[in-house]
Amino acid sequence: MSKKPLNVAVIGYGFMGRAHSNAYRKVGNFFDLGYDIRMKAACARSKDKVEAFASQWGFESTETDWRKLVERKDIDLVDICTPNDSHREIALAAAAAGKMILCEKPLARDSAEGIDMVKAVEAAKVPNMVWYNYRRVPAVTLAKQLIDEGKLGRIFHYRAVFLQDWTISSDLPQGGTGLWRLDVNAAGSGVTGDLLAHCIDTAIWLNGGVDKVSAMTETFIKERMHTLTGKVEKVGIDDACAFLARFKNGSLATFESTRYARGHKALYTFEINGEHASIAWDLHDLHRLSYFDHGDQGIVRGWRSIHVTDGDHPYMGKWWVPGLQIGYEHSFVHQVADFLAGVTQGKPASPTFRDALETQQVCDAVLKSARSGAWETVQG
Ligand SMILES: NC(=O)c1ccc[n+]([C@@H]2O[C@H](COP(=O)([O-])OP(=O)(O)OC[C@H]3O[C@@H](n4cnc5c(N)ncnc54)[C@H](O)[C@@H]3O)[C@@H](O)[C@H]2O)c1
Repeated sequence: MSKKPLNVAVIGYGFMGRAHSNAYRKVGNFFDLGYDIRMKAACARSKDKVEAFASQWGFESTETDWRKLVERKDIDLVDICTPNDSHREIALAAAAAGKMILCEKPLARDSAEGIDMVKAVEAAKVPNMVWYNYRRVPAVTLAKQLIDEGKLGRIFHYRAVFLQDWTISSDLPQGGTGLWRLDVNAAGSGVTGDLLAHCIDTAIWLNGGVDKVSAMTETFIKERMHTLTGKVEKVGIDDACAFLARFKNGSLATFESTRYARGHKALYTFEINGEHASIAWDLHDLHRLSYFDHGDQGIVRGWRSIHVTDGDHPYMGKWWVPGLQIGYEHSFVHQVADFLAGVTQGKPASPTFRDALETQQVCDAVLKSARSGAWETVQG
């Protein structure tokens, strides 16, 4: 089958710029795509750095202004890997220019920005997706499969945490390269939009919509030097957030995230307790899914640890041989493969911008509840 050329442009060469570029380079070797991906352009503000990035990752050209990039006729797909304050503006311009758009999470800094983005891609009828990549870790996809098959039965509880420890020092500045996550204007929020957004997206995907939330947040270090102004400024982000939630299906949930959990670098875990079975997953051991089935014979009943590497496990038939595991980077490869399969079949792969807006609306309700001290209903 002849493949259609697909000219990809990546904006931002940081952590995600690298993760996505790696995915574009590899995906065609492992998945049958209707497209021949071409690494057409990389874009970032620093000419020297973007040229070095383009040469390392095999991009044919560079731009230092994303506005010029999205207007280029030779670009089919724009991938937004920049900090959150630029997602809306770039997405609106790329939609107006008729490009396919992949955007990093969170969709935007808040729901108001997110709504503009959903309207823009839907009006322009351009394929779109948000990089909530954990859905495409095979063990997490397997959890979805087990839940959809009814193996858990009625779900009572959902429990998720995402813990880090990298902002404990009060000497750490806020803002600018590498530290934009601490600047509320660039990030929109702290751990809520950055880390809990992942937990919320997975939770909605596995367990359906969230009805109400009751949250508390804390900013442990109130002032930090701002790298862009050189002045000590108020910190506007939430350093930690814990919230209770009621799902629309009646299940209860707890979510917790912080960047002050000494010893934890990226501990994302979730556990789901159903009528017949329970499931648990841990990012540190991402190729395993813990599963407890009450239907097992009593004397052997217990938590089992499924090594999600067999050919009939999600995505695994495309990789090596049973027993050999894959890792973090592969979730991005899977996401590109699913996105392009969706475009080919005319069935958009999830999460679209509209799907990701739901997560944004939960984040907004969480932050509103932390301010009001009351339960807040998720708007949608
Ligand atoms: N899916 C995930 O698990 C995941 C993980 C990390 C980050 N993210 C998201 O990815 C996005 C980027 O995060 P990151 O960790 O890669 O950040 P980063 O700081 O490592 O990289 C950001 C890049 O954007 C570039 N940039 C900033 N403003 C720009 C502009 N106006 N024009 C062009 N380039 C610009 C910077 O030069 C840098 O190359 C954020 O939205 C973040 O929330 C998602």
